[in-house]
Amino acid sequence: MSAPNSDYDPVEVTPLHPDEIARVVREALDAVAGAVTLAELKQVRLDHAGDRSPLALANREIGALPPQARKEAGQRVGQARGEVNRAIAERTAALEVAEKAARLAAETVDVTLPVDREPVGARHPITTIQETVADIFVAMGWEVAEGPEVEAEWLNFDALNLGPDHPARTMQDTFWIKSGESASQESGMVLRTHTSPVQARTMLTRTPPIYVVCPGRVYRTDEADATHMPVFHQVEGLAIDRGLSMAHLKGTLDHFARAIYGAGMTTRFRPSYFPFTEPSAEVDLLCYVCHNDPGAVAGCRTCGGEGWVEWGGCGVVNPRVLVACGVDPEEFSGFAFGMGLDRTITSRYDIADLRDLWDGDIRFTEPFGVGL
Ligand code: PHE
Repeated sequence: MSAPNSDYDPVEVTPLHPDEIARVVREALDAVAGAVTLAELKQVRLDHAGDRSPLALANREIGALPPQARKEAGQRVGQARGEVNRAIAERTAALEVAEKAARLAAETVDVTLPVDREPVGARHPITTIQETVADIFVAMGWEVAEGPEVEAEWLNFDALNLGPDHPARTMQDTFWIKSGESASQESGMVLRTHTSPVQARTMLTRTPPIYVVCPGRVYRTDEADATHMPVFHQVEGLAIDRGLSMAHLKGTLDHFARAIYGAGMTTRFRPSYFPFTEPSAEVDLLCYVCHNDPGAVAGCRTCGGEGWVEWGGCGVVNPRVLVACGVDPEEFSGFAFGMGLDRTITSRYDIADLRDLWDGDIRFTEPFGVGL
C-alpha cells in the first residue's frame, strides 16, 4: 500500500473515481440480477463483494489517500458496497424461495397414480386350518406326525386290516404306482388314499403312549368337479395308551369341535364301518349355522335341514392293527379319527365349487386373511 500523500486526489485514483465506482456497482447489480441459482449467486458474491472484488480493492486504496480525502471516498465506496450487498441479500432471499418452491413441486406425490407394487400373497385357507388343527392338539400335548404322499401299499392298506382281498379296498379308488412301462408291473406303492398310514408308521416307530395328529394331502381317482377332487386334505388323529376308550374319543372330538367352532358346538356319532377301527363311527358336527335349532333347521342350506354336517370317520383302533404295528393289544388300546378339511372349508365359507381351492387365485385366498 502506498504511503499517505497530500497531493493525492481520489478523483484521480481510478478505482475510486465516481464513474468507475458506478460502473463497478452496475456491473455487480447486473451480475446479481443475472444469477438464476443460489450457486451462481455465490460466485457473483465472490466476484463482486469478495476480498478480491473491485470494490474491496477500491476500499483498500482509501488508506493511501490524504486524510482530508478519505471521508468522501470512504462514503462513496461504503455506499457502493452496501448497495451491492443489499442486492445480493435480496436476490438470495428471492432465489431461496424460488428453489424451495421448485423442490416442493418436484417432490409432490400424486396419490392418484396407480401403485406398481407386486401384490403380496395370502395364506390359503387349507394351510390356515391345518395349522389351527395342529395348534389345538399341540396345546393338549399331542405331537404332529407326517408321512409321505407316495406310500407303501402295505401301510396304506394291509397294516390297517385291509388285506389284498378285503372288499373295503374298493371303498377308496386308488392311484397305483407302476414300476415300469408295462401296466402289469406293480410297484407296491400307491398315492396314499387317506392319512391313516401315518397311524401305522407312528406305531411302528414309537412306543406308546402315542398322541399324534397328522394333517396332509391324500389322493383318490375321482374326476374333478364342483364337489370332488382327485387330491384333497385330511387330518388324522391317533391316541394309543392304557385304558383308552370310545369315551375319550368322543371327548377329544367335542373339544376339537369347540376349539374350532366355539362353545356350544358338539358332535354326534353314527355307526359305521372301517376295517382299522372297531367299533367305528361317522362323526357329525352340530350344524354351525342353524345349530339344529327347531326354528331354523328346516330351511338351513348348510346342513340341508339335517341339523348336522358330516365331519369324518373315527373309532377304537382295531386290535388287529395294533398287532400288525407291534403294539400289544392286551396292554394298550386307542382311538383314531380322520376328517376331510376341504369340505370343512367349503361348507363353512359357503364356497360352491371345490375347484376354487385349487385355482391359486389370490383374489380367492385374500379374504381368508393375513397377507404374507
Ligand atoms: N381313513 C378314513 C377315511 O379316509 C377315516 C378314518 C380315520 C376312519 C381314522 C377311522 C379312523 O375315510
